[in-house]
Amino acid sequence: MKVNQLNTLIFKNPSQDDINKAAELLRAGKLVVFPTETVYGLGASALDETAAARIYAAKGRPSDNPLIIHLAKANDASKYADISPCYEKLADLFMPGPLTVVLPKKDCIPFSVTGGLDTVAVRVPSHPIAHKLLEAASIPIAAPSANRSGRPSCTTAEHVIEDMNGMVDAILDGGESDLGLESTILLPRGDKEVVLLRPGAITIEMLTENGFEVTLDKAVTEKPKENEKPLAPGMKYRHYAPKAQMILLDGTLDDIAEFMRQYPDDPSVAFLCYDELKSKTGNKKIINLGSVSDPLLQAHNLFHALRCVDQDDSIKTVYAPLPDQENIGLALYNRLLKAAGYTVKKL
Ligand code: TXA
Ligand code: MG
Repeated sequence: MKVNQLNTLIFKNPSQDDINKAAELLRAGKLVVFPTETVYGLGASALDETAAARIYAAKGRPSDNPLIIHLAKANDASKYADISPCYEKLADLFMPGPLTVVLPKKDCIPFSVTGGLDTVAVRVPSHPIAHKLLEAASIPIAAPSANRSGRPSCTTAEHVIEDMNGMVDAILDGGESDLGLESTILLPRGDKEVVLLRPGAITIEMLTENGFEVTLDKAVTEKPKENEKPLAPGMKYRHYAPKAQMILLDGTLDDIAEFMRQYPDDPSVAFLCYDELKSKTGNKKIINLGSVSDPLLQAHNLFHALRCVDQDDSIKTVYAPLPDQENIGLALYNRLLKAAGYTVKKL
């Protein structure tokens, strides 16, 4: 159960003055939710152990799941971590943007931020409000996604209010997140070798085109075994799971259309559905994902769609298409697999 303790300030389309107030709160060890281009982040000073502990309490997050630190500029990373030529090349290409890089941490970053690890994950968001907030605060901001632990990440301030009202000191409302899925996480292993720990909008294809050799951490596509510790500790937790049982449909668009056509109309069953299938499904409960040919729009819509499933108590089962793993499709594939607890029906 949630305990409402705080009077959460909500700043809609925040002015520079509002952002300065939020930055002051962060400097005073308080919790501020802010928009980024990926999802909303639940921020606190990354230099303050007590502030970091408040993030875990507000989210209900296990303390071994480390936080990403957010910086105004890629160059700032050298204050908090040991940077490398690989980091510099990634930063030149993709920062600011939806990329997180895991680096050996310096002593100023407390272990409570890194879940006890001697590495720290670094990200430079491109969202103008996030950037202004980081500039104004002039400290690194530790920020996980602003959802309650286990829920889909928040892509609007309304989602944040649903999960976090009364649990945080302020929310900066910057409208809908542009991308809608969390950042790509990379662990550098050499000058050009990186391990992909979490797929996002910086894709394997983009990295390979730029001369990187990418190894896919198996936790991205496979269920971690019990007692196994994935390289990104967060990948072992069930995430994004709607209350209804979720089942992924592995087949062509025609297979899925046929499956839906034959399925009896049943108000306890919903389908996350591509635009192209909507007209072919009889009287089914449908939640829109966007066009099959627009995976960026599907990424933008996915977490909202999962929250819509939760808002309809009558839905007990939800089917969704298993996407292709190319480009941003891999990120959709990873999030949907986790949401479904790896349950896939082969058509
Ligand atoms: O797009 C994003 O990355 C968003 C926005 C707010 O920046 N943040 C986000 O944070 O998704 P969170 O806490 O929900 O996910 C962070 C992931 C977790 O899976 C965590 O285990 C991993 O990053 N992580 C953090 N520090 C790490 C480290 N030192 N080594 C390996 N994985 C790490
Ligand atoms: Mg998260």
